[in-house]
Amino acid sequence: MGPKVISLIVNGRLHHVALAPNVTLLEALRELGYMDVKNGCEKGDCGACAVLLNGLAVNSCLALAWQADGAEIITCAGLGTTEHPHPLQTAFADLGAIQCGYCTPGMIIAAKALLDHNPQPTEEEIREAISGNLCRCTGYGQIVDAVTAAAQMLRHAEGRAPG
Ligand code: FES
Ligand code: FES
Repeated sequence: MGPKVISLIVNGRLHHVALAPNVTLLEALRELGYMDVKNGCEKGDCGACAVLLNGLAVNSCLALAWQADGAEIITCAGLGTTEHPHPLQTAFADLGAIQCGYCTPGMIIAAKALLDHNPQPTEEEIREAISGNLCRCTGYGQIVDAVTAAAQMLRHAEGRAPG
């Protein structure tokens, strides 16, 4: 089967790309310039390539780009900006949860998926949610602390939201 044109909506931006059926979503995203999606193992073991696909965290190395045709994809960089970072991005930076940084985008995506359905996770639930994401640097303690702090920030912000 030859290439076909598919639509990828990445961080709110629509791309039309012609891709062969065997191109992974990871390859497609990096080819489009989304270099925050890291290529760690290409076999589902490290979580460095995680993105939100229609709201669910997936390892993009295990998905084919064709499977994401028309889907909404959010990468870590799409969660916030330098001026307005997402609370997870702020907490990771402030609490020493980023060292070499290679695991960070995938970790933050896994944490975002958790907090979207569980705004007040226990430490055990956080560790479970990031269990598919490998970090060689931090020992995970700072990452758990950062997710806990971000959850608090988000609950606080929601409590103050009008309406
Ligand atoms: S690169 Fe996808 S899980 Fe490691
Ligand atoms: S900060 Fe280096 S792998 Fe996690």
